Amino acid sequence: PIDATPLKSLAPFPIGVAAQALHAADPAWTDLAATHFSQLTAEWEMKMEYIVQPDGGFRFDRGDALANFARSRGMRLFGHTLVWYANEPEAFARLDERRQSFEGALRNYVTAVVGRYRGLASGWDVINEPIKDDGSGPRDSLWSRRLGQVGHFKVAFEAARAADPDAVLFTNDYHLESKPAKLASYQRLIDEVLSAGVPLTGIGCQTHLIADLPAGALTRTLKVLAGFGLPIHLSEMDVSLIHGGLFASRRDSELAQARLYGEAMEAFAALPERQQFAFTVWGLRDRDSWLTRQNAQDAPLLFDDRGQPKAAFAAVVDAL
Ligand code: XIL
Repeated sequence: PIDATPLKSLAPFPIGVAAQALHAADPAWTDLAATHFSQLTAEWEMKMEYIVQPDGGFRFDRGDALANFARSRGMRLFGHTLVWYANEPEAFARLDERRQSFEGALRNYVTAVVGRYRGLASGWDVINEPIKDDGSGPRDSLWSRRLGQVGHFKVAFEAARAADPDAVLFTNDYHLESKPAKLASYQRLIDEVLSAGVPLTGIGCQTHLIADLPAGALTRTLKVLAGFGLPIHLSEMDVSLIHGGLFASRRDSELAQARLYGEAMEAFAALPERQQFAFTVWGLRDRDSWLTRQNAQDAPLLFDDRGQPKAAFAAVVDAL
């Protein structure tokens, strides 16, 4: 059996976990999560897709449920996410600019959400997944179309900064370890917004991996991102056993998964202390994962369906 030493007691930096509001009401989930993790990220209920209503109103019931759970167990909250190409609510898209400016509406939204969790949230993914999937450049979104690439960064980050002067403000993206072009475009965009004076103060690397990622790729990517000298959030780690499909057996794929979790923790723990924002996994038990909802054969996280630590958990402990 694997020794289930609480992860948060082994790490000198926060260890985060993604959650949905329904988990906060499930003692089996809350006890295991609070034992091992010191930071909580809302998987989807603090995004526009949940908060913004068709009439333009906001609903915070589930975000508050997660915030209250985090506060009750002494966990930090991590705010995910304010602006995302995948969330373009009608209330924004169909805004009548003669009545209220688009910029004013976005500023108002960011101010309301960040202000609500000020003092509990340690940071925010202000703009999520800004780079095109093929890595060829910044995405085209409702936000970038209306306000410009640098413009929408300025509006969102400056509103977040004004609403919570202490929060670390991130942009955040994925496949940076497997698509060099995407990493290069991400670096270029970060350089551009920093040069424009945007108060971006943290860099997120989501780290959604597949088990056949070559050893060393993630380590190299974290080193490149650390070059900006800003705090790094390894923000959404999971390791899919399905998409790789290159393994002789399930056991082989689980060992490859464990090796990648160990490499990720080693690389993160090797960062300068001031750049270690948090190491976050995108879910608690395999059954809680968004990937398992897509394919029941997947098992991408540190704990199995019964909440038992897996080989991946042991690899993370060994790396600390
Ligand atoms: C996913 C959640 O896990 C799902 O529950 C939701 O339905 C869609 O979004 N990168 C991100 C996260 O930044 O917001 C995504 O989370 C996973 C990919």
